[in-house]
Amino acid sequence: MSRASVLDKLRLGVNIDHVATIRNARGIRHPDPVRAAGLAVRAGADGITAHLREDRRHISDEDIASLSDVLSVPLNLEMAATDEMLEIALRHKPHACCIVPEKRQELTTEGGLDAAGQHNRLRHYVDELGRAGIRVSLFIDPDKEQLEAAVSLGAPVTELHTGLYCELSGQPQEDELERIREASRYGASLGLEMHAGHGLSYDTVAPVAAIPELKELNIGHFLIGEAIFHGLEVSIGEMRRLMDEARA
Ligand code: PXP
Repeated sequence: MSRASVLDKLRLGVNIDHVATIRNARGIRHPDPVRAAGLAVRAGADGITAHLREDRRHISDEDIASLSDVLSVPLNLEMAATDEMLEIALRHKPHACCIVPEKRQELTTEGGLDAAGQHNRLRHYVDELGRAGIRVSLFIDPDKEQLEAAVSLGAPVTELHTGLYCELSGQPQEDELERIREASRYGASLGLEMHAGHGLSYDTVAPVAAIPELKELNIGHFLIGEAIFHGLEVSIGEMRRLMDEARA
């Protein structure tokens, strides 16, 4: 691969939360998300993402400790902006922390963080993580006001929520994709490193992967689900291929 293509390569962060969901259904050790992370790396993941939720419904504190010990690629810890999560992040010092909104009753992260509305509350977390050398990302909707708030908070990265785009179809989906394209352009023009993720599948990934300003996609649920039918290496390999093809 040429130097230019390495620089342009869109990174794939594989989210392993739902390996832990299956493990926790039985309260035993199998299947081990840390083992899945190793397999994901061999299959082409550029990083591993894990969300330590307040209710520990999937990833556990021990998983984060083990991932921090054994991973050969960057760990992206998704976390709510709480003192408990900050303490855990500062203890393990992952490569990156993506701050996400968290509501107890939600099935998954339902909307982006209100970086503009919660500016004062978030500042402390962004500052503390940044001071520890952790790359801070804010998970936001593709919205100008939120991007500007991320810049004024001093977060170097934002991850655009692609969940709505993935759920829609027809013209509304096209419109939402255009919002993601515009937000990617605008965020990059403000100096933010732009990532995207949530809900992406083989059917929805290509138009997002083709957005040149995006540097990283974080994908989990679809890959783990597809792995039931074809194995994790095949599902990640196919996602990687679709991303590279869209980028080319
Ligand atoms: N990015 C963020 C910030 C998330 O919270 C999640 C879900 O944990 C993802 C990406 C991955 O979403 P999915 O599991 O739907 O691919």
